[in-house]
Amino acid sequence: MEPILKIRNITKKFSNQSGEALKDISLDVFKGEMLALIGESGSGKTTLLRLIAGLESPTRGTIELNGRQVVGDNTFIPPEKRKIGMVFQEYALFPHMNVEQNINYGLHQMDKASARKRLFEVLEWVNMADLANRYSHELSGGQQQRAALARALAPSPSILLLDEPFSHLDGVLKDQMREELHTILKNSGTTALFVTHDTMDALSVSDRIALLQEGVLQQVGKPRDLYEKPTNLYTAGFLGKINHIRGYCTKTGILTDFGTFPVKRNFLEGEEVLITIRPEHIQLADKDRSELKGVLYHSSYQGDHLLVHLRPSVSKSRHSIILKLPASNKVKIGDVVGFKVNPDFTNVFPGK
Ligand SMILES: Nc1ncnc2c1ncn2[C@@H]1O[C@H](COP(=O)(O)OP(=O)(O)O)[C@@H](O)[C@H]1O
Ligand SMILES: [Mg+2]
Repeated sequence: MEPILKIRNITKKFSNQSGEALKDISLDVFKGEMLALIGESGSGKTTLLRLIAGLESPTRGTIELNGRQVVGDNTFIPPEKRKIGMVFQEYALFPHMNVEQNINYGLHQMDKASARKRLFEVLEWVNMADLANRYSHELSGGQQQRAALARALAPSPSILLLDEPFSHLDGVLKDQMREELHTILKNSGTTALFVTHDTMDALSVSDRIALLQEGVLQQVGKPRDLYEKPTNLYTAGFLGKINHIRGYCTKTGILTDFGTFPVKRNFLEGEEVLITIRPEHIQLADKDRSELKGVLYHSSYQGDHLLVHLRPSVSKSRHSIILKLPASNKVKIGDVVGFKVNPDFTNVFPGK
């Protein structure tokens, strides 16, 4: 399948910047896909969106939209000719126009009857048919973002770019908007590149995730792959709480201060490695029979679960490991606790 958006070897250095904001980025976005672009503040997410939209020019590299080069060595198609929809962080409705007029703004090239039909269609998608006459100061934050989304979708963009559209919204409203956005994009068959610094946004609604660190693309893949099979330690740590345990490879597994961890892949005997495993991928086991054990030294109640911290029982090592257990669990400080891990969720990286 040909991608809708094809980014190749994009590098961007701002003239007043010492390093590069983006380094040799290549990325595809396919039709109907919702791709989340995540990364810390300053990692280059907005810069990449602005390059795609044509609001910035790259230092090197090419971008194709629908098989047509929009940026290249001798090409620069201006933003208004790229058929891109945009929703940014700030509520971006024109304040002197009501919702209907805001949406109509993008439909001026259509004949009147088609524009009217499209207006009602997008109002329906965002569930705002009865708010069409309101001005932005008469709308809640969530409603303003829904109206901005309707305006961006109205001209049927080939791709929609969203830059942290919900970062102003709080808690429950944010969760609700995240689900709504997913439904609206899927119902309308819209291809979207969605910037967020919220890992839950990315994991729960996107088809794929691309993770940027200081302008470098670290991993691109399905949410489950990034969470369960990170290809590097940065990705492993970025997507959620994770344990790091040092060990040495032996014939039977990886020897650590907690015992021997089973692993799937073969490593060089004696090689020093770092194991990563998430707290919820560790289960309790009978301490007399389990290969892995530790002493419970701290436990914190989280409402729906417990986070239990173990230290090795034998050595004086300062390592610790955190387990996520059901809140009903009765383990106590000082208990020797046996545990087991599933090798499918145990990732191993070079240790030095
Ligand atoms: N117009 C600009 N001029 C100079 N540096 C910029 C400009 N825009 C962004 N940068 C720099 O580029 C890097 C990436 O910024 P940005 O893309 O805004 O990151 P993010 O959206 O991931 O927070 C940052 O170091 C930022 O300071
Ligand atoms: Mg940004």
